[in-house]
Amino acid sequence: MAVADSPVPDLADRATACAERLRAADRVLLASHIDADGLTSAAVASTALARAGIDHEVVFEKQLDDAAIEGIAATGYETVLFTDFGSGQLDAIAEHEAAGEFTPVIADHHQPADADTELHLNPLLEGINGASELSGAGASYVLARALEGSDGDNRDLAALAVVGAVGDMQDSDGELVGANAAIVRDGVDAGVIETRTDLDLYGRQTRPLPKLLEYASDVTIPGVSNDEAGAISFLADLDIDAKRDGEWRRWVDLDAAERQTLASGLMRRAVASGVPADRIESLVGTSYTLVDEEAGTELRDVSEFSTLLNATARYDRADVGLAVCLGDRVDALAEARRLLRTHRRNLSEGLQWVKTEGVTHEENLQWFDAGSRIRETIVGIIAGMAIGSPAVDRSKPVIAFAEESADELKVSSRGSHALVRRGLDLSAVMREASRAVGGDGGGHDVAAGATIPIDERDAFLAEADRLVGEQL
Ligand code: C5P
Ligand code: C5P
Ligand code: ZN
Repeated sequence: MAVADSPVPDLADRATACAERLRAADRVLLASHIDADGLTSAAVASTALARAGIDHEVVFEKQLDDAAIEGIAATGYETVLFTDFGSGQLDAIAEHEAAGEFTPVIADHHQPADADTELHLNPLLEGINGASELSGAGASYVLARALEGSDGDNRDLAALAVVGAVGDMQDSDGELVGANAAIVRDGVDAGVIETRTDLDLYGRQTRPLPKLLEYASDVTIPGVSNDEAGAISFLADLDIDAKRDGEWRRWVDLDAAERQTLASGLMRRAVASGVPADRIESLVGTSYTLVDEEAGTELRDVSEFSTLLNATARYDRADVGLAVCLGDRVDALAEARRLLRTHRRNLSEGLQWVKTEGVTHEENLQWFDAGSRIRETIVGIIAGMAIGSPAVDRSKPVIAFAEESADELKVSSRGSHALVRRGLDLSAVMREASRAVGGDGGGHDVAAGATIPIDERDAFLAEADRLVGEQL
């Protein structure tokens, strides 16, 4: 493939080298991470490998720790493709490579460790932001484009890449930018994605209008948000039919004029209630619609699709999420929807628990310890939701703890772009503070995590507080 054809030209040479190695392999082990971005990364890479006629097997890991890497080495595969993780674990991976156990090929977007390897596709190595411009699924997509063969150019896989980027919250300023935007253009050209400036509330495809308004968590509108009766009476005051045949309509059921009426009514209410201008602006954003999916389903809107995927993989059912990504619209989709109900309930109960208990403030950060009340695989999502809520002070990062096992504690941290601009790098904080107490961690500047020994919470917090203080 010519460099100019790559959706992300800065990564084209790396992608070509990785693709060549994969084509030369007899068979490949594909290992990926258990979240929406990891699942879509695996689906993009697996589809591209299959189309290129490369025999492979897919496995998922919650954390690519030393034990997981050893397990991967023990499979005997000579070529291992890591997607959505691998960069942060290169110190350990490089040792296995040096021992001749396997050749790693990495398509990732996390902060790399100190060691490096030859076949390494990561936006951060080319000055592209790995938290806001390219996700793991995006890196896999760049690789998939380099693997393109006679049966197509793989641009249809842009749909899944965009689900991954949005699943990692890379559109948190209202739209996808940089390399992600180039992938969106590919998807639009290929006829699989449609973009539109739209009301930026979660649930446009599936939520009945009152729920859409009531549960909107990013912008709080007094008398509407978290207020069922308020949301219903707000709708009643608008000049639209919010119900049809006795059933609440959804955002997708409204025509353009009705959407306009609802959106401007919401803005007027926000202005009148004194919601700050920048928050009001964030009520509008770009929506990404997967045009081949049925209207009114979770799969049609990339944001709802990514939640559906998290509901599988973060509950040990990555197989279900992967099957949905690969096109199963019957059994796997039904199972994913069942898991989604549990996931939604867990998120809402977890967030409520944080709001009720509150956070503890240190000088430079704030934290909560959910113990076993919040599943460790979703405590990071809840920390992210909490930082957008009034329960948490936006001027400091938040650190969340949850029990991972009898002797390990999971740590998740979330900041904001404003804090990152002032120097915050949570990936460095998590790595250094965890290593200081015998654990390990990493991630992105704005969102990172770690695992530490269960007794080391307070020592870890003291070190993290000191490190954040140095950064800010
Ligand atoms: O493991 P991975 O890279 O896929 O996960 C990224 C995490 O970072 C997600 O949980 C996502 O919600 C979080 N994130 C965030 N704010 C951003 C970008 C990412 O909280 N602006
Ligand atoms: O688990 P959590 O959602 O808090 O993870 C935030 C980010 O930190 C993700 O991108 C995740 O892959 C990364 N992470 C990591 N090493 C860990 C834990 C999390 O790189 N031990
Ligand atoms: Zn990711």
